[in-house]
Amino acid sequence: MSTLVLLAHPDLSNSRGNAVLAAAAHDLAGVTVHDLHAAYPDGRIDVAAEQQSVEAHDAIVFQFPLYWYSTPPILKAWQDEVLTIGWAYDPMGAAGTGIALKGKTLGCAVTTGAPASEFAAGGWNEHSVESFLLPIAGTVNFLEMRWRAPFVAYATFALDDDELARTAADYQEWLLA
Ligand SMILES: Cc1cc2nc3c(=O)[nH]c(=O)nc-3n(C[C@H](O)[C@H](O)[C@H](O)COP(=O)(O)O)c2cc1C
Repeated sequence: MSTLVLLAHPDLSNSRGNAVLAAAAHDLAGVTVHDLHAAYPDGRIDVAAEQQSVEAHDAIVFQFPLYWYSTPPILKAWQDEVLTIGWAYDPMGAAGTGIALKGKTLGCAVTTGAPASEFAAGGWNEHSVESFLLPIAGTVNFLEMRWRAPFVAYATFALDDDELARTAADYQEWLLA
């Protein structure tokens, strides 16, 4: 089982949550961490290289901080540019006729500013983190991939070092499960 973690953080040097989670992922055998901003500081994604990398792995993880209930822009650009017609899906087929990604698993690893209690009815955000990931879950369904329930690290800024280390260990377990 090989897993490709696509890390999307525009300023990893000032990250607390994603930097620690990415380092924990990096330590695992069978897990490749691909920092999109480091790879493409000018935002110009090498589509062929990304497609080859996806083909070489069984599972894909989108790791990112939640930005306005969505992904940072580079991860949306990755989807728009890499998931091409003819590679990711059959242009002649009905919706749901995936090709290159068919059968692979995709999960999201998300950090948030808000605590878990606010991702519920009556909270600041009203809805769960998973509900904000619905566009990605829809893409997974369309491409005949398998959706994995997300790993969510809530309010990472408020975690002390021990709590963050435990969260990173939980992330490692999630990646290996
Ligand atoms: C542009 C922007 C938008 C954000 N939007 C949200 C949001 O919608 N919900 C939320 O809980 N936190 C939001 N945050 C907070 C980040 O999710 C949080 O700072 C990040 O997950 C912490 O991870 P890091 O230490 O790796 O940067 C936002 C932060 C920025 C800069």
